[in-house]
Amino acid sequence: MPNLRVHFLAEMVDPGDLAGGRSVVVDVLRATTTVVSALVAGARAVVPCLSVDEARRLASTFPPGQAVLGGERGGLPIEGFDLGNSPAEYTPRAVAGKTVVLTTTNGTKALLHCRAAQEIVLGAFVNLSALCGYLTQNAQAGATDVNLVCAGTEMHVTREDVLLAGAVAQRLAGAGWQLDDEAAIARDAWRAVSASATGAELKDRLASALRASRGGGNLIQIGMAGDIELAADVDRFAIVPRFDAKTMRIEALSQ
Ligand code: MLT
Repeated sequence: MPNLRVHFLAEMVDPGDLAGGRSVVVDVLRATTTVVSALVAGARAVVPCLSVDEARRLASTFPPGQAVLGGERGGLPIEGFDLGNSPAEYTPRAVAGKTVVLTTTNGTKALLHCRAAQEIVLGAFVNLSALCGYLTQNAQAGATDVNLVCAGTEMHVTREDVLLAGAVAQRLAGAGWQLDDEAAIARDAWRAVSASATGAELKDRLASALRASRGGGNLIQIGMAGDIELAADVDRFAIVPRFDAKTMRIEALSQ
C-alpha cells in the first residue's frame, strides 16, 4: 500500500525530496480554495506567479480581455488587479473562458516550491472527496506515494491546512494507506474537530475551527470572514486541479 507523507510547511521540505513523486499542495485559506472555484467557474487555466510584477508582466502578454489578474498581499486585493483572492469573486462572469494569472502570499509560493514533483494536484475542503477519490484510484493503478504539502502562513504552520491534511489522511488510512507521523498527527487533529459529524454539522464544526485558525483570524481582521464559510463548504465541487510545471498552468483534471 502507498504511503502518505504530510509536510506541515512547504519550507520544511527540500524540493529535491519531492522530485519525481506525487504532491498535493494545500492552502485552504484561501489560494487552493480559490483555484478550485476559478476552474469550476470556467477559467481556462490558472497560472501561479511568485511576485506581483511577474503577474502583471505575464498578464500583459495576453490579448486584451483574455487574462484576469488575481491575488492578494496581506489578504487584500492588489492595486490594479481585476480580482482579489476571495473564492466568491471567481464567478463565471469574471473568469469563464479566460486565464487567471494569480499571485498570493503563501499558496502560489508553496505550489512553485513543489514544481520538481512529477505530478502536483491541489487540495481544499471544497474538493475533498474528489481529491481523495483521485488519489485512491491512482494508487490502485499502481501509482507511487504522495507528499501532501501545506502552504502555512509566512513560515508558520497553520491549523486550517493541517486539518485538511488530516481529513485526507483519515480517508486514505481507511483505504489502507500508511501514514507518516505528521499525517497521523493531522488525522488526530481532524478527528477532534470533525467528531464523526457529517453534512451541515460537519461544515459548522469545520467553519468554527477555521475561524479559530491563524488564517481565519487574519481574514476576520480584514473583514473577509465570509470566505471562511466558503472554504468550509466540504465537497461543494468535484474537480481536481493539476499544476503542470512545464506549461506553468493549473487546469482541472478530466475525470
Ligand atoms: C496565501 O496564499 O497566502 C493565502 O491564500 C492568503 C490569503 O488568501 O489571504
